[in-house]
Amino acid sequence: MILGGDGYLGWSLGLAFGNRTDYQVVLVDNMIKREWEKEVSAKLLVPFKKPADRLAEYKKIFGKTNIAFEKVELMDQKAVVKVIKKYKPSVIINAAQQPSAPFSMMNEKNAAATFSNNIIGHLNVLWAISETDKNITYIKLGSAGSYGSIDTSFVPLNKIDLSFEYKGDTHKILESWMPMHAGDFYHQSKISDFLISDLCANIWNLKTITVQQATIFGATIEENHAPERHGLSTRFNYDAVFSTVLNRFVCQLAIGHPLTIYGDGKQSTGLISLSDTVDNFLKFAQMDIDPGEHVVVHNYTNRCSIAELATLLEKIDTSAMATHIQNPRKEGAGKLYKKMEVHDVIASQHEDKEAKLELELARLLEFTKRYKNNIDTSVILPKITWSKDGQDHGQTGGKKEYVKAPEFLSRKSAKTYAAREFFNFIVRLFAPKKVTQRQ
Ligand SMILES: NC(=O)c1ccc[n+]([C@@H]2O[C@H](COP(=O)([O-])OP(=O)(O)OC[C@H]3O[C@@H](n4cnc5c(N)ncnc54)[C@H](O)[C@@H]3O)[C@@H](O)[C@H]2O)c1
Repeated sequence: MILGGDGYLGWSLGLAFGNRTDYQVVLVDNMIKREWEKEVSAKLLVPFKKPADRLAEYKKIFGKTNIAFEKVELMDQKAVVKVIKKYKPSVIINAAQQPSAPFSMMNEKNAAATFSNNIIGHLNVLWAISETDKNITYIKLGSAGSYGSIDTSFVPLNKIDLSFEYKGDTHKILESWMPMHAGDFYHQSKISDFLISDLCANIWNLKTITVQQATIFGATIEENHAPERHGLSTRFNYDAVFSTVLNRFVCQLAIGHPLTIYGDGKQSTGLISLSDTVDNFLKFAQMDIDPGEHVVVHNYTNRCSIAELATLLEKIDTSAMATHIQNPRKEGAGKLYKKMEVHDVIASQHEDKEAKLELELARLLEFTKRYKNNIDTSVILPKITWSKDGQDHGQTGGKKEYVKAPEFLSRKSAKTYAAREFFNFIVRLFAPKKVTQRQ
């Protein structure tokens, strides 16, 4: 059972589990993301079909009928119990959450909605599992960004003993999870979720896995990359609210828009392709978990700074040009290089990872260029800031010379961009067929 089956990751997981295994797969979603996208005028690169149409396409292409869809609201506990009783899943993957830090920082309503949706929805699933079948393995999407504000050289997978000095004395904390600190309300919800999983595994003897998921990039997996598999495309946001950094950069590159680095770009991020993410989840679903166990995995392959990412794209396509804009977030680069322990079950994904990263990026760029006429540049630059006074208080990007996003287009450095924009506009105007954003 995949919660969030109408989402970027959830649909990709459903497709892979459906095609590559003998599992009966049920996708569960309340379709709320389609409403949130309207609220912030977010855009999709590729038309994202409705679940029933995607399942019909899946049957047509693969000849299989082992994927079902159920519209269920996770905030409705009774409905969660009902769908679990109906399908009796052996594994539940929860990818059904509000996934955007900017959305959670937009206003009080969205901050509260992020907390209630992400925390209560998750609690409802745990509660339902405890009442129906404690043998279910519950795999919950966390975020590697939960460690983002912690300046540490190592993030272990397991609980550890910590010692620290305070006012001249040394103290200990025994068997503790690594401290986590959020830089926004979305990540705060993820930290709370993590602790709730830990609590429920402990008190109810549940089998739980938290996937501390790094930033995912990529638009396709093996099942839907070919142009003729267009109808199986997943949700792919490229806007400033719901897109992840690398997906946005590649879209910028595809249309000749400068890659807009927030601040000095020294802030680092973990990365993993959509295709590796999906492969790893197939392994997580097979893991043998003991009752009461809370297993943590760090799902990433590469780590680098945002500026390094832009440099990598410049290497792949020499037409790429990067520029720095004022950082709308409050985030720091930290003093320490953060090494994250890798679980044995996915260690093989780390082999040849640099070469694989370049290949995956080239593949994404090729895909993005197919749909570049769909890209609306007005949704790419950030409009939501962490500070309430519009000032940049970030530890990175605090320098005054960085251009504020709204002023970006009026700057001299963007002249080339303006010319290309005009050219793209003309191309779009005379394009034979306009592809709509959604079907
Ligand atoms: N995409 C990434 O790079 C990334 C990185 C780290 C963690 N994650 C986590 O992975 C998960 C999936 O992310 P995504 O990028 O696929 O997001 P997405 O927005 O594309 O998908 C989430 C889906 O969950 C559904 N949903 C949300 N609340 C629901 C509710 N109350 N009941 C039923 N359905 C609900 C939405 O309608 C949407 O279809 C999220 O938990 C996110 O925090 C994603």
